[in-house]
Amino acid sequence: MAEGTGTGGARERVLEMIMGCWRTQVIHEAVRLQLPDRLAPEPLSSDLLAKATGTDPENLYRLLRGMAALELVRHVEGRVFELTPDGATLCTDAADTLRGIAMHWGDRQWRSMALLGKAVASGKSQMAAGTDSFSDLQRDPEQAAVFNRAMAEQSLRIGEAVARAYDFARYRSILDVGGGYGAVLVALLRAQPAAQGASFDLPEVRAQALAYLHEHAVGERAGYIGGSFFEQVPAGFDCLVLKYIMHDWDDQNSQRILANCARAVPPGGVVLLIEQVLPERITADPAVAGMIRGDLIMMNIGGKERTEREYRDLLAASGLELTRIVPTDTVFSVIEARPATTAHKSGT
Ligand SMILES: C[S@@+](CC[C@H](N)C(=O)[O-])C[C@H]1O[C@@H](n2cnc3c(N)ncnc32)[C@H](O)[C@@H]1O
Repeated sequence: MAEGTGTGGARERVLEMIMGCWRTQVIHEAVRLQLPDRLAPEPLSSDLLAKATGTDPENLYRLLRGMAALELVRHVEGRVFELTPDGATLCTDAADTLRGIAMHWGDRQWRSMALLGKAVASGKSQMAAGTDSFSDLQRDPEQAAVFNRAMAEQSLRIGEAVARAYDFARYRSILDVGGGYGAVLVALLRAQPAAQGASFDLPEVRAQALAYLHEHAVGERAGYIGGSFFEQVPAGFDCLVLKYIMHDWDDQNSQRILANCARAVPPGGVVLLIEQVLPERITADPAVAGMIRGDLIMMNIGGKERTEREYRDLLAASGLELTRIVPTDTVFSVIEARPATTAHKSGT
């Protein structure tokens, strides 16, 4: 059968891509109404769920059928639905829950993607971007909780992969720069029982970050430092970790952050960027496609994903030298940098 005329042909593949938006919104609405949480104890009818959520019974039934088509629930019979293992990943108390990520993608990311064309045409980011955008976000308790929780959900796993891939044994103190709740720090401290550290982020994040660190049982070894990495990065830590920070910023802002890291890191210390490193040539490999997705998202908030060459140049322009790149068993790599031999610190 000629391509494009049958199942699995070019036309069907592209149609799936064109219409992919429905999945994001079915999942977002399901999570917003806490349907996975409500269905976790036992199968329920859509009429009962409509009462509990104050929604229209007919349309909630149709939404649940959408979830069934995505295998997030099983359509048992009539109007009764049962949660599936896939759907259970969206429950609030699931280990590594995807709830926060679903909320974030159905709302803020959704609005951002709708502005892609304007960014391409103008060369300018279309969402609130730059130094104040994170402060605005972190000052809005509802948005901040969704965003920070989404980041932490993803970062705990990435942090665990980083701890497996990179030897932290020689470092006693770790600063998670722009660490949010400190999920990466949690993973690293769990892997290094003798180490201690802190998450360094905007002052607004403090209370929730401390609660998260406490909840993850590293509270005694982990603190929180409020401030801005554009002003200063706290000294006194021999390992600075920046996960998903560089990709938020253009080269000029990234250099300001890195230069402050270069000033803060002691002799023998290290700066580790945990980022996805773009290949020079793009293929349709799923891992590469994920990085490109990230790059297009960053386009609208003023950031970008970078290649190894671009990271090397960025670090060199900030007084740091890229010493090696350590892959992890995720799409993230550890980009290791040290103060350049000619760097700011005389006598080192
Ligand atoms: C993409 S998130 C990454 C969070 C965390 N590193 C992770 O990967 O889970 C970027 C973080 O940078 C923080 N941030 C933004 N501007 C900052 C500033 N000027 N100083 C310190 N942190 C800042 C944000 O509040 C946010 O937590």
